[in-house]
Amino acid sequence: MNQPRRVENLQTDKGKVPVYATGIIEQPWDGYSDDDHATWATLYARQREVLAGRASREFLEAQDAMGMTPDRIPKFSELNTVLEAATGWTLMGVEGLLPELDFFDHLANRRFPVTWWIRRPDQIDYIEEPDLFHDLFGHVPLLMNPVFGDYMAAYGRGGVKAHGIGANALQNLTRLYWYTVEFGLIRQDDGLRIYGSGIVSSKGESIHALESDAPNRIGFDLERIMRTRYRIDDFQKTYFVIDSFDQLIQATEPDFTPIYARLAELESVPAGSVLDTDTVHTRGSGVGWASDGDV
Ligand code: PHE
Ligand code: CO
Repeated sequence: MNQPRRVENLQTDKGKVPVYATGIIEQPWDGYSDDDHATWATLYARQREVLAGRASREFLEAQDAMGMTPDRIPKFSELNTVLEAATGWTLMGVEGLLPELDFFDHLANRRFPVTWWIRRPDQIDYIEEPDLFHDLFGHVPLLMNPVFGDYMAAYGRGGVKAHGIGANALQNLTRLYWYTVEFGLIRQDDGLRIYGSGIVSSKGESIHALESDAPNRIGFDLERIMRTRYRIDDFQKTYFVIDSFDQLIQATEPDFTPIYARLAELESVPAGSVLDTDTVHTRGSGVGWASDGDV
């Protein structure tokens, strides 16, 4: 088999741009270097420590149940045995970001794309694009949870539909993914916890999202989220808080078609704004915020 490619964002004179790759590949497990396994071990141990008391109960339980260990990069085939039996999800190896419609189609069919390569040692603390650590450590555990697994598949079906409706609908749906799957917080009996993959795979943001005075923490509101811009190169200015995964599934069950049509008439909301209609858990101080750069 050919060695798969490592498809990374491209450095241009206008900054980094994402590069897409479509193929599904076999995980080249024997090709990982000692450095690769060491990067996994370092990140795994560090995040498990940071996440005790910070990640949601569901996330930690699911991660334990999967049997990932710090000593070596997991084999997708071994994780698949556990995952398929639990919720019917399968992992498949990819070279980098997938085109949107491919991504949605895989999710709709309970196939979760995982980047085969892991970040370089100099990228331990920050990498812009998703790598194996983000995908496997951050996204895969919650696929063991039946309710969250259903949400991801429903999102995939919704994505195929939004893609057919147009660019505005896709943008609305992408914001929902960003503020739930990637950067969501959940309220437990004993306080706020993290479930978003972009947070759980980052030490800095795990602490920032829960303990910093800077960001807003606002109760989940579907249409509000769909209007809200976000940051791709810095900690989020606003996090949205769900009460349970059941709330998330129920709130996203209705047909979004009329919602997309309604939202097309409204302005987007800047990433750091607080609205009169918001349920505010914490109002951010805004310390350290860049004044531009929301997407
Ligand atoms: N109910 C949404 C629709 O009709 C689909 C969806 C479900 C989107 C869950 C996101 C998350 O488009
Ligand atoms: Co991600």
